[in-house]
Amino acid sequence: MSQFSNEWSISESVYHPANERTGGTLFCIGNGLMGLRGSYEELGTKEVQGLFAAGVYRKSIEQQFCIADTFCRKKYIFDEELMPTPEEMYLIQNLPDPLYCKIWLNGEPFRMWDGNLLEYNRTLDLKTGVLHRTVRWDDGKGNITSLKFRRFCSMDERHLIAQEISITPENWSGEVKIESGIDASLNNEYAESVVAETPAGLTLKSEVQGGAVAFQCLETRLHRGASIPLEWDSEIKLRRYKKIATVRAEQGKTLMLEKFSTLYSTQDETPQEAAEMLVKKAAAEGFSQCLEESSRVWKELWEQADIRIEGDSESQRKIRYALFHLIIASPQTDSRVSIGAKALSGQGYSGHVFWDTDINLAPFYQWVFPEWGGAHVRYRHRNLADARAYAASEGRSGARYPWQTSIGGFEHAPVAITCSRTQIHVTADIAYCALRYADISGDFEWLETDGAEMIRECARYMVERVEYNEEKDRFEIHGVGGPDEYHPLTDNNAYTNWLTAYVLRRAAALSDDADERFQWMDIAEKMVCPVDEKTGLIPQCDGFFDLKDSWEITGSDWGGPGAEYHECKGLKQPDVVLLTVLLPQLFKEKYLRANWDYYERFILHGSSLSPSIHALVAARIGLMDKAMDYFNLSADFDTLDVNKDTWAGIHIGNFGGLWQALAYGFAGLQVRDGQLCTDPHLPEQWKSLSFNVWYQGTQHRIEVCNRPEAEPVLA
Ligand code: BGC
Repeated sequence: MSQFSNEWSISESVYHPANERTGGTLFCIGNGLMGLRGSYEELGTKEVQGLFAAGVYRKSIEQQFCIADTFCRKKYIFDEELMPTPEEMYLIQNLPDPLYCKIWLNGEPFRMWDGNLLEYNRTLDLKTGVLHRTVRWDDGKGNITSLKFRRFCSMDERHLIAQEISITPENWSGEVKIESGIDASLNNEYAESVVAETPAGLTLKSEVQGGAVAFQCLETRLHRGASIPLEWDSEIKLRRYKKIATVRAEQGKTLMLEKFSTLYSTQDETPQEAAEMLVKKAAAEGFSQCLEESSRVWKELWEQADIRIEGDSESQRKIRYALFHLIIASPQTDSRVSIGAKALSGQGYSGHVFWDTDINLAPFYQWVFPEWGGAHVRYRHRNLADARAYAASEGRSGARYPWQTSIGGFEHAPVAITCSRTQIHVTADIAYCALRYADISGDFEWLETDGAEMIRECARYMVERVEYNEEKDRFEIHGVGGPDEYHPLTDNNAYTNWLTAYVLRRAAALSDDADERFQWMDIAEKMVCPVDEKTGLIPQCDGFFDLKDSWEITGSDWGGPGAEYHECKGLKQPDVVLLTVLLPQLFKEKYLRANWDYYERFILHGSSLSPSIHALVAARIGLMDKAMDYFNLSADFDTLDVNKDTWAGIHIGNFGGLWQALAYGFAGLQVRDGQLCTDPHLPEQWKSLSFNVWYQGTQHRIEVCNRPEAEPVLA
């Protein structure tokens, strides 16, 4: 289990093979263009190792999984008529592992699980994105060696990975054999071949199913103090492409190895040449120089992204870990791709992009790195044609955005899963996200062109889903689910209805067509958006208050015969509570409080997206103990492996929510009448909370303090 060790790092000091999968995620590094899991150089497995490039997906016809194996699933989740259906989709591709490096010390293979591991430490330096491992190892025959490993994905040259390995025999002299290479043995979804070779390097070309081609170029340098020329042998064995050298090591003297690998794909221009050029440049500069350049960029990123929590170094460490992942998740200004539910840290959710990106993640980028925030809405706009086709396939006009997607904008979710088809709020979420991007960034040029086109198309689709109830002279939406997946098929889900009404109003202001404007405003006015004005309470959907208040859990959330959440009030994740966060101009404290009080007792946090939103609301209404409990649950979600699935990748949407909890919740950041303002609620131990945001082209430093006499500062 990893632990935070100081304000700028996480580390672990116990090695156990059983932790390798989770460690692969927790110690993942990257730069938004690629993600590299925290595997060990000497040997990994398919679930530990991982190199992912943004946009490199394989195309596949999948026989969709058929897991309607429980009462609940059969009754509520799957439509067995539609199952099993082979469907075309893209899945993020795990590429050949460039970290591969095996070492023999005096004839014995270095393996932490053999011999005696005298010391072990693995530390991820959040400031520079460097992963360190230090080991003292006894081969079981009394030969002790100290080994140090460092690696980073450059933030400066974002196609570059650099590794450094130092080997110091403590009490022996003898031979060290090194095998440095690329391991392509763990996946079958690509066909690889060596397309160029130099004595210490090679270029591997991997043709991924469905069209993508990745080029990885490798160069290994050995130094013994000063650089020495070496003879390398080549070997290809079991799809491991290796360069092999044997050298003599002297007791107490350090042998240094530097390894550079580059990754380009057919998304890039002249990828093979680019990969070869960059690797040569990096090898000529050396590890330290490359690190310096990467660290310089990291410094600039941290200057913008860091959140300072004075008085609580544990919370400080936690938020930095979250920010680190938010930074390495972003494709930055590249709008051809966006951030999947696990970013580039694992294969969970196949690298697919969900509504999480628009609702949970986007605020961080929109406020902190507006250009990166802009890239995401542009990505959504790029996929407008597919969204139109989705709506058309239902015989509807406008654009329907899919539940999960990738580089292709079509629906990747198994058609038989009810909630993927009923969560039409995704379309409203995407329009909402585009509007918020424009509001925060001030990029009205985009809003009035591509943004307007996309928002209007979303509005047209939502209008198609609205039904007029003549008797009551109101508009309703039937057969949908909100974010809470435990109630996937309901009428008048409050989240969907309110958000649709909001989007229609704003879309009307972007339309030149008077009839359309009138229709959208009329629907927005008469949409069923029930709220008890006296108490502020909002029903999640029709009939929600009549569901059972308690339930017996006899199995897993979806599974056990007693876990019939659909017939009771158990919630997977916030629905109404999230709604109150999204529309702060409508929902003031009374509504936040009423709905928090009512719904919090039913929340099961079956989704990682849940705790941060609870932290946000608890802080806003001044429930500071609760706010801190939820802050910690969210911040520790992966480090404590709360849902037992961290091995499949980081829960990046959770970290986006955590940023919102701090900004909107603890600092109470809001825009009122075009002005930024704060309404801080800080836990007692926090002296101050400060961070940077951009608002309509101007940078602001937000600083809120916990001293009663201190006024919030907005610079
Ligand atoms: C959540 C969804 C989310 C998905 C991907 C599910 O468990 O319920 O709301 O979009 O995970 O993160």
